[in-house]
Amino acid sequence: MTSSVKETVYKLLTVMDGESQVRKYLKRFSSEQGLKFAVIKVGGKILKEEMSNLITSLAFLKQVGLTPIIVHGAGPQLTSRLNTKDIKTEFFDGQRITSPEVLKTAREVFIDENHNLTSKLKEAGVDATSFYSGVFECELQHKDTLGLVGSITSVEVEQLLKTVQKGCVPVVSPLGETAEGQIVNVNADSATFSLAKEIQPYKIIFLTETGGVLDEKENIIPNISIVNNYKYLIKQPWVHSGMKLKLEKIKAILESMPTATSVSITKPELLAKELFTDKGSGTLVNMGERALISETWQGIDQKRLKNLIESSFDKKLDSNYFSSIDLHKVYVTECYRAAIVLTNTFNYSESSIPYLDKFVVSDDAKGEGVGRSLWEKVVWKHQKLFWRANHTNPVNKFYAGVSDGFMKCGEWKVYWNGLTDYEEIQNCVQYAKTKGKTVTEENAV
Ligand code: ARG
Repeated sequence: MTSSVKETVYKLLTVMDGESQVRKYLKRFSSEQGLKFAVIKVGGKILKEEMSNLITSLAFLKQVGLTPIIVHGAGPQLTSRLNTKDIKTEFFDGQRITSPEVLKTAREVFIDENHNLTSKLKEAGVDATSFYSGVFECELQHKDTLGLVGSITSVEVEQLLKTVQKGCVPVVSPLGETAEGQIVNVNADSATFSLAKEIQPYKIIFLTETGGVLDEKENIIPNISIVNNYKYLIKQPWVHSGMKLKLEKIKAILESMPTATSVSITKPELLAKELFTDKGSGTLVNMGERALISETWQGIDQKRLKNLIESSFDKKLDSNYFSSIDLHKVYVTECYRAAIVLTNTFNYSESSIPYLDKFVVSDDAKGEGVGRSLWEKVVWKHQKLFWRANHTNPVNKFYAGVSDGFMKCGEWKVYWNGLTDYEEIQNCVQYAKTKGKTVTEENAV
């Protein structure tokens, strides 16, 4: 390992929350029988401005034994080369109109960028091979308006997979051929999606300068679930047209992939954090799970819910839990990987304030946003809520960020949302701190 790579690996490891998370993801991403690891799209701007971060992050993947397939773009480089050559460049519907002259320059630029990336990877000790033909079979997308732009009809992955098997990173340029042998320019995002569809990887990763999908305040949205958030998101005025297009494409690809597949959008320097921690660093988009909501236990599989609660707390649930609590509402995701149980408490100012009795997320769903999206659903529906957590509960960090306030009481921290009245808070805190326990240590029985 070169010393700069060593330094980065060290830096990357120190931003991680815990070794067990790293192990969990490493195991998942490197399972032989499972899905392939990842297809990573690197935009032209990243190649231009973030090359060294990119190389060190990819070197890190190499160090841990993971071999991704890389698809690169080179838009800004092509524009500037065309300008130098005084060749006019125009766009139609976001696509570059590609005359034979533009195509010739595009090929030169793509091959240059591809070689540059490949050789930098090799210098950093990462074996890599360039691919700029023979991968994407295309037909002309719209000859009259776009010229030599290809829409992909099939993808040849055999050579790519053989390369990956040898532990060598394929670096793929967005160039295709028609059945007649005409070389065509392909959109690099489309190339990434078509490749992913054929390869079926765990992760489809976009490395961008912004490092994620931004909300209206320019903050990164950590998770997007297609079934829970897509409809809302796509209607927002602050989602600009380029991102809308990308989200539409992401939705289409996820619908055609195994449910374990997810799309991550992050920055090169934060790639390891995105991949090897639950929290990640950018935006993770997946299908997500719908929630079942009920005011009674009818229709809820108590056995599955009990398993989820017990595995999540690593404790035993009281055998009469379901019959003994005064259920207000239960929220469970359809695969029983996250659940929230609300119980009735007392009446105060005519409105009952529900107590959040259980919030559980299975270990394999952490990082997918399943718990967070269920949480958001519940707080949106219940303006007033309160709950407690043991001081050692790792979820305290999350609670501190999502609650309006909390109070330390003995072994508990009591949190609340939407409570403004002092007496109301006092009553809730009193209720929470004196409430009996419904889970006990496994070995205490
Ligand atoms: N490490 C996991 C993955 O790559 C979870 C990442 C979570 N990322 C996020 N932006 N919420 O699949």
